[in-house]
Amino acid sequence: MGIQERNQTVLVTGASSGIGQGIAIAFGQKKANVIINYHSDEEGANHTLEMIKKSGGNGFIHKADVGNEEEVITMFQRAIAEYKGVDVLVSNAGIQKDNSFAEMTLEQWNKVMNTNLTGYFLCAREAIKHFTQKEANNPDAKAIGNIIFMSSVHDIIPWAGHVNYASSKGGILMLMKSLALEVAPKKIRVNAISPGAIATDINDDVWKDEEKLKELMKLIPYKRIGQPEDVAKVAVWLASEESDYVTGTTIYVDGGMTLYPGFVDNG
Ligand code: BGC
Repeated sequence: MGIQERNQTVLVTGASSGIGQGIAIAFGQKKANVIINYHSDEEGANHTLEMIKKSGGNGFIHKADVGNEEEVITMFQRAIAEYKGVDVLVSNAGIQKDNSFAEMTLEQWNKVMNTNLTGYFLCAREAIKHFTQKEANNPDAKAIGNIIFMSSVHDIIPWAGHVNYASSKGGILMLMKSLALEVAPKKIRVNAISPGAIATDINDDVWKDEEKLKELMKLIPYKRIGQPEDVAKVAVWLASEESDYVTGTTIYVDGGMTLYPGFVDNG
């Protein structure tokens, strides 16, 4: 049975707020079983679960630090046991700890790397271990497992004052591609979504401030800030059989932010 013919089981990290919450809810609307991972925002995770149940999906909440090996292993064991397997990992939990480069502490560097890059490695590794045990290889079969890495436009747009964050996202790009190459023969797909400015808590200092929002619009040719649903729809598609031939690629959901917006009337 393909993933599409039964309810998908999807593990979403960082699903208590922002883009992760939007993605978890969107999978709930598709009647998926959703494992809602969170680190500190229990209330947010409860809200995600409530929304999923309201729309006919199912799920449970699991607290874990994605940068902690043991906690990640336990989370996957529980998910696999409760739903007899996981079909999709959406590795989304990410943080920013901004500072100018000279002022940046090792702690700020390590925290961002540990969540944004090591966390993606640990979750993906557990997912791959599980996927490869699921079914024998069959070249004509659809994917037996799917990984979606939530990255950022800053996997290719340099970002002053955010060198730790941009470095982690650049790392995700090669993590995604190299892993996609390694596991494609096993019928496992690995892709990334790179959002631009999406209105969430991570950047509310910008979009809640009228002046800063006006400045931000200069970087968005499409002239609106994104919403978590803009990203969630793409994630649902990437996890479906509709995109079965798509692997090792990044979809930019950014209103054109990666199009060198300064060139619209310049150069
Ligand atoms: C960051 C946001 C930022 C956006 C566009 C995202 O990856 O987390 O803070 O607004 O990129 O610069």
